[in-house]
Amino acid sequence: MHIPALSHLLPAALLATPTLGGLVSISIQDDNGHQSSSSSLIQAPFLDSGVPAPPNLEHLYTATLHCGPSLSTGGEGPHGERSVIPIVGGNFTGPKISGQISNLGADWGLISSKGTFYADSRSNLVTPEGVNIYLQQSGTGGQIGGRTFLRMVYETGHPKYYWLNNVVAIGTLTFEGETSDGGSLFKIEAFVMT
Ligand SMILES: *[C@@H]1O[C@H](CO)[C@@H](O)[C@H](O)[C@H]1NC(C)=O
Repeated sequence: MHIPALSHLLPAALLATPTLGGLVSISIQDDNGHQSSSSSLIQAPFLDSGVPAPPNLEHLYTATLHCGPSLSTGGEGPHGERSVIPIVGGNFTGPKISGQISNLGADWGLISSKGTFYADSRSNLVTPEGVNIYLQQSGTGGQIGGRTFLRMVYETGHPKYYWLNNVVAIGTLTFEGETSDGGSLFKIEAFVMT
């Protein structure tokens, strides 16, 4: 495995910025199990109490997700039970990006033998300019308040939204009610790490 120099992995600003805290040691294991580590002058921020400072989160959007009636692949398979939930539409609104959710895609979520739901979805967002953004979501249900916690990964080649390829996004999904077509409405609050 090729291990790029640490300086290529980090923005120049971070390398140059002195911060509070200790030396960071990074250890990388390659495909053959060889361990290599490098210490550097890059320092992680710490709070006054000495606890590492958590990253900040910025609101990306609030989405209303319209799903069709779900179907099951019929009991427990090798990885659990697949609960297939069609994604049939919706919208999302945020400070930097808004648009519609296409009638395209589904969540092929997995219900484990312990009853935990693991989301696994592919869907498509469309901006008002007609730009398509591929969205992959995974996550874990049964969180406090009945929420499902999500991780999002976006893909687009459009220059205006290229930044989405590089965000680390997380979110919460809540059930909002049933629809007249036998489907469900969900709300997703999405955030990006800053
Ligand atoms: C998004 O969809 C919901 C549910 O259909 C609707 O109540 C809301 O007004 C929509 N928001 C926008 C910005 O279109």
